[in-house]
Amino acid sequence: MNFPKITTITETKNEAKNTKTIKFNFPGKIDPGQFFMIWIPNVDEIPMSVSFIDEKIKGVTFRKIGDATNALFNLKKGDKIGIRGPYGKGFKLNGKNILFVGGGTGISTITPAIEEAIKNKFSSNVILGVKTKNELFFEERIKKLGTNLFICTDDGSKGYKGFATKLAEEFINKNYYNSVITCGPEIMMKKLFDIFKRNDFQASLERYMKCGFGLCGQCCVGEGLRVCKEGPVFNRAKLKKIKDFGIYKRDASGRKIKL
Ligand SMILES: Cc1cc2nc3c(=O)[nH]c(=O)nc-3n(C[C@H](O)[C@H](O)[C@H](O)COP(=O)(O)OP(=O)(O)OC[C@H]3O[C@@H](n4cnc5c(N)ncnc54)[C@H](O)[C@@H]3O)c2cc1C
Ligand code: FES
Repeated sequence: MNFPKITTITETKNEAKNTKTIKFNFPGKIDPGQFFMIWIPNVDEIPMSVSFIDEKIKGVTFRKIGDATNALFNLKKGDKIGIRGPYGKGFKLNGKNILFVGGGTGISTITPAIEEAIKNKFSSNVILGVKTKNELFFEERIKKLGTNLFICTDDGSKGYKGFATKLAEEFINKNYYNSVITCGPEIMMKKLFDIFKRNDFQASLERYMKCGFGLCGQCCVGEGLRVCKEGPVFNRAKLKKIKDFGIYKRDASGRKIKL
């Protein structure tokens, strides 16, 4: 499991501006919220949460922001990549009414969890927040599930004008939710953590990763919680112990970077 398994890209799809999905052969189980380490030959190996789960095919959806994601973006059907994993702990669906909040590329991480929730007849509201409408993706995929979907854009180019946290706050004040599940910019997730006071709050964190399976300590947060092993999905009890949550992350050499 800790060696990359070479696999073939079966499909690529442009989802939004600079955002792409690649699907690849990968039989086996993975839970929504878990991630793979994706090896791009001659470039790098990076963590990516699963965004498509099928029996034999899995997918990841990402925005190009640096060397590895640019190289992955340029790969085509038939090209080879290496996959390690699945790693980490995914989302747990608890309670009957769930509010899902996805921001930016975090939308890709929560979508398989929304699908699972609908399959299991949970009632859910979904808020997707992006800066502007051409960064939005998976709208049709989520709409097709028959869930209540609300779009927010910072610039008002589509849906509600303003941050996803603002709309979420209105929803939380008006409706009863057992649980909030979120992935997106950490500042957004911290704000939601402060707004939604109930116990069942789950957020998927991102930290710079090297091994991906708990060995190197690169991704530690709080007091010895490894994002790759104890996370990337953390519940309220764990998040309370993570003093850096919403405040800083670390770069490849461990230096603190303010969020
Ligand atoms: C568990 C996990 C799941 C992830 N899932 C997804 C996903 O589904 N879709 C997606 O688009 N991205 C995801 N990411 C982030 C993705 O791994 C990084 O964007 C990628 O490693 C950047 O590599 P790069 O070489 O293209 O950019 P780099 O040149 O390495 O970095 C470009 C910029 O991004 C910052 N950066 C790099 N890695 C991270 C990170 N892990 N967290 C925050 N900032 C970072 C760097 O500090 C730099 O400013 C995930 C990260 C983790 C830890
Ligand atoms: S990346 Fe090595 S311990 Fe998490």
